[in-house]
Parts: sequence; C-alpha cells; structure tokens
Amino acid sequence: MVEPLIFELSRPGRVAFSLPECDVPERPVAELLPSDQLRDELPLPEVSAPQVVRHFTRLSRMNYGVDLGFYPLGSCTMKYNPKVNEAAAALPGFAQAHPLAGEALSQGALRLLYELQAMLAEIGGMDAVTLQPVAGAQGELTGLLMIRAYHQHRGDTARTRILVPDSSHGTNPATAARWGDTITSIPSNARGRVDLAQLRAQMDERVAGLMLTNPNTLGLFEDEVLEITRTVHDGGGLVYLDGANMNAILGIVRPGDLGFDVMHFNLHKTFSTPHGGGGPGAAAVAAKAHLEPFLPVPRVVERNGTYALSEDAPHSIGRLHSFYGNFANLLRAYTYLRSLGPDGLRRVAEGAVLNANYLLALVKEEYEVPFGDRCMHEFVASAERQAARGVRALDIAKRLIDHGFHPPTMYFPLIVREALMIEPTETESMETLEAFAEALCAIAREAREDPEQVREAPHRGPIVARPVRRLDEVSAARHPNLRWTPQS
Ligand SMILES: Cc1ncc(COP(=O)(O)O)c(C=O)c1O
Repeated sequence: MVEPLIFELSRPGRVAFSLPECDVPERPVAELLPSDQLRDELPLPEVSAPQVVRHFTRLSRMNYGVDLGFYPLGSCTMKYNPKVNEAAAALPGFAQAHPLAGEALSQGALRLLYELQAMLAEIGGMDAVTLQPVAGAQGELTGLLMIRAYHQHRGDTARTRILVPDSSHGTNPATAARWGDTITSIPSNARGRVDLAQLRAQMDERVAGLMLTNPNTLGLFEDEVLEITRTVHDGGGLVYLDGANMNAILGIVRPGDLGFDVMHFNLHKTFSTPHGGGGPGAAAVAAKAHLEPFLPVPRVVERNGTYALSEDAPHSIGRLHSFYGNFANLLRAYTYLRSLGPDGLRRVAEGAVLNANYLLALVKEEYEVPFGDRCMHEFVASAERQAARGVRALDIAKRLIDHGFHPPTMYFPLIVREALMIEPTETESMETLEAFAEALCAIAREAREDPEQVREAPHRGPIVARPVRRLDEVSAARHPNLRWTPQS
C-alpha cells in the first residue's frame, strides 16, 4: 500500500491536541505583531493524534537503518551508534543549553568542546582544531580556505591549482571546483595508489596543494605517503588529508606524522554520531601550527581554568557556521571517545580492517576485486564478470534487499567498473559477515543460472515494509516530485 501524504489525510476541523480553556484575556494577534509579519493562513494538515502517530510509524517501517540490520555502504562507515551517546546528548544540561547563554553559563559545554578539540588534535598528530564544520565537505572547504589564506598571507598569490588523485572522494574535487580553483586529476598507478611520477610531473609554482584521501576510496593505504607529502612540500604546496576514512587507522598512525598540514575528521562516520542526509553531520578540521592562525573563529580557548570563545584571530578565514557547529553531535563524538579510550580506539581500527579483509576473502572467488589482495576498512569489488551476463552492479545491489541487507555503495569510485564498494565496519559480528557473503555469493550463482531473477529484484522486503519495487532512478533524480499542491 502506498502511504498517503499527511496532507491527504487532512479533514477540516480535525485536531491532534486538547488544551484547557484559555483563562487569560485574548487579544487579536494583529495587536501584537506588525502586519507584515502576519500570515493570512497556515495550511497545516488537520489530523487526529492517532493519525499522526500511525502515519509516522508506518513511514518508519519503510525505512532501513543501522539499528535494523547490516548496512555495508562503502565510504559511509555505517557503524552501530552506541546508545550511551544518545543518553549523553539528552542530558538536560546539554540538551537545553542555549547558544546565547553566554560564557559564564556555558562552562561545561565549552569545556567539552575544548577537550574534544584536544583529543582530536592528539589522534591526528595536529596542533589545533576547529569543530565548526557540519559536514566532511564543509571541512574540506575550511581546509582549502586555510591553504589559500596561508599562501596569500605569504604573498604567494599565484598558487591556484589543486591536485586531486582520481582515487580521492568525490567531494574533494567538488569542493575545490566550488572554490574556483584549477583542478588537476592525478591518476592512480597499477597498484591503485597515487602515481608518484605523475604527481611530480604536475608540481609547479602554481600548485596550492594536494587533497589526498587516505586510505583512498579503493580501500588502500597510500604506502608512499611520505614521499607524496615531501614532493608537494618541496614544490611549495600544502597537503590536505581527507581523513573521513580514519576508521581504518585510528590510534595506529597519526596524519600529522605523515606530513599532512591540515585534515578533516568525519565525526559522523568515525566517531559514531548519526549521519543525516545533508546534515546534521559534524566534522572537525585539525591543522599544524603554521595553519593555526587561519582557523575559523570563534575558537574555544582556556584561560586559567575558564573556557571562552575567542574571536581574536586577525588572519582567520572567518566564521563557517552559526554558533559553534553541531553541538549535539560533537557531544556524541566526545562520549564515544571517552567511553573507548585510546586502546579502544585502536581496537576499532583493527576490527574494521579485520572485518573488511574477512569479508573480502569470503567473496573474492565469486567477484573480481581489482586491487584486492588486502584492504583497509573497505574494499571495492567489481560486478564486471556478472555484467558480461547482463547482470549489473545495480541488479546485485537490488537483489541484496531480498536477502535483508542494505546494498553497498554502487558505481563509486569511478575508476572501478561496475563497482560495489563494501564497508562492513568493526561493529558487525562474524555471523553477520558470513551471512552477507553467502547472500552475495548466492546472487553471483543466480546471475549465472537465473539472471532474470536478479535483474527484476527486489521481489520482496523481508525486513521493511516496502511499497514499491524498483524505482525509475533517472526520473526520480531528473523529475523529483517533492511538493504537495492542494487539489482544488
Ligand atoms: C572519504 C570521504 N570524504 C568526504 C566525505 C564527505 O563527507 P560529508 O558527506 O559529511 O560531506 C565522505 C562522506 O562519506 C567520505 O567518505
């Protein structure tokens, strides 16, 4: 059954609340508000309380989330979010803190931000941190603006080229393009790593910096990273780390020690705060001392045991977000870090890499894995073998729904044809990994023996109530129907 819009359930006069009679004199609202701020009408749906509850409960049952099952969406680190994070975020002292309350009344919240900055600086091997960005991509923009400010401050204004390896995350070139720079793609070598000779060939006095995703989107660690950062520095550029894949290397290696000048963390991946479509994420940008003056303001600082917000940074790139970032998610990341501690964080990375390698070993008989002897926290399989029989990566992803799993990321990274990018995370058990591998292998067998079954998937929804089968994805993207207009 297709769930109607809540507006379609609306009937005139129906209400979902019952309030006591008003016991103070009523005044017309026009006496209280200027006329240009008054609305003639507010077309909200008129529904009863049970209708509201049932409507949203039905919708929630059509949704698939990490609390419902395995969610191996490569590059997204869909790990289980511990509920203690939610309990901390709901503590009244934090949940009801007002962003305009002033420093004296916000010491606890400011201290938490200050300590989170220090923890992330330690994990990254960096000197200073901002918690303002609310998405990884906004962290990238922050880093690039800081790199630009650094060069300009030195009078080095010709540096407008950004180098981006073809194995980097898609937001990297997108961020650089948005900023108006010239982007040069650096190809990968036969081992799926940055081709150093190509990088050297591109270095000139116009290079502002390199944006490197490490581990890269093939799930591989850039094992020549020291040479990469040295090459860029020797040419006068700076090196940005897309640290959204830190889940693989937490507590094992510090980006600052590898020569990175500035990086971002995706707190909503690595540190188990919930993802949101376009927000509410939370990123943090960490920088070495030479970039610290350019960090956004306000900065959370400590003076003699008192925490404050400082705007005293004349070279700062300015403010990137209202108030201090996405506080509730910063609080969740803080809770996660405090509950795991340094040893626990290292075990996160070890578990993430072990799980991914176990899964890789279970599926690589049936699926090609182009750079896949070993991987970090994720790997990229290819459905090319199946595509030769008319079953594409999209079909396999849809068929996985019939087996009760969320599909992996498809067709990304672009450098692997028919890509299926799989990231199991450390929070999954061996049985879950084995069940998922068995489903993937069963689909590969089916692609040989009964390809039509796969091509027509999904057939059923064993976990979620699903009102539709395969969507017309092109129409959904090109002609989205997002707005309800009342029937006259
Ligand atoms: C490697 C990598 N970099 C950058 C991003 C962008 O982060 P966001 O979606 O928060 O903007 C992601 C997102 O998952 C990512 O996986």
